[in-house]
Amino acid sequence: MRTLTGIQPSGSLHLGNYLGAMRPAIEAQSRGECFYFIADYHSMTSLLDRAERRRNTLEVALDWLACGLDPKHSVFWRQSDVPQVTELTWIIGTLTPMGLLERAHSYKDKTAKGIAPNFGLFAYPVLMAADILLYDTNVVPVGKDQKQHLEMTRDIAIKFNQTYGDTFVVPEADIREDLAVVPGLDGQKMSKSYGNTIELFGDEKSTRKKIMGIVMDSRTPQEPKPDADKNLAIQLLKLVAPADVARDYEERLRAGGMGYGDLKKALFEHYWHHFAAARARRAELAAHFDHVEGILREGAERARAVASAVLTRARKACGLE
Ligand code: ADP
Ligand code: TRP
Repeated sequence: MRTLTGIQPSGSLHLGNYLGAMRPAIEAQSRGECFYFIADYHSMTSLLDRAERRRNTLEVALDWLACGLDPKHSVFWRQSDVPQVTELTWIIGTLTPMGLLERAHSYKDKTAKGIAPNFGLFAYPVLMAADILLYDTNVVPVGKDQKQHLEMTRDIAIKFNQTYGDTFVVPEADIREDLAVVPGLDGQKMSKSYGNTIELFGDEKSTRKKIMGIVMDSRTPQEPKPDADKNLAIQLLKLVAPADVARDYEERLRAGGMGYGDLKKALFEHYWHHFAAARARRAELAAHFDHVEGILREGAERARAVASAVLTRARKACGLE
């Protein structure tokens, strides 16, 4: 069984990325073969700064490795180091109905947010389908926002198989319903593009400032809060603190007598502690960038071997060779 996922190097990774995509991906390492990559081609649809792309790519590599991606077990590479994926994008693009792409939520959301529509942004789901199909992927751990992209990938694979004969594995999404949408500092979905993230490896001062800055209502500390479970700090605490600790804070908030300041302080402390070991590993890796580059290069070689075989299969299926 092969698991694959990708994350764009479009900004610092955050708690939503970790819980929605990275942690399930890292856990999957104990169950089978894993293919994880940094989607730098995808980042070109929204990020035009070359230095930033390079920097983010290395930062994302550090984040993955620090959080537990084991390069001995998993294949870990930079998407653009296996350019075969762009050929497959073209091949399957010719079987992708316009209507399918026109219905894509992510395209509509991104253009509504002011990202200038370009062909790459429109074709984004086809490149993503190629990422998945090129590696005979069985399972794709992602957050809920990617559900539609996975459905499109399946549609494209099925259509190709019907048109040219059985060629691609039809993949399944792995979406954890309980962690499908991690809320951001403003209560909306946490996202790099909404400026509402808690970064995984931000520095202590700015992380504390962000958490202490979460806006709460104006009820006094003494007032009981029957809606404690809806409180954003409680929701986030449940994600990073032991279950009994989070429950205890929730009860104290519900009963009244605890101020929001104390609650946010606790959230910061647990957040900081939750990622302490990973933070230390990351600092160590950051001191050895060459080593990280080497991991990505070696990963690209292993990925290329699989990609070439599947691409040849697809080319043959449609009469290109
Ligand atoms: P962003 O929205 O911050 O740009 P990406 O689109 O790069 O994040 O997402 C990378 C992965 O992280 C995807 O699998 C996505 O579904 C997951 N993810 C992103 N934000 C969240 C969130 N708030 N909750 C759960 N999963 C998320
Ligand atoms: N579109 C994904 C995102 O924004 C990133 C991505 C690109 C991806 N290719 C992929 C995720 C293939 C899973 C599989 O989050």
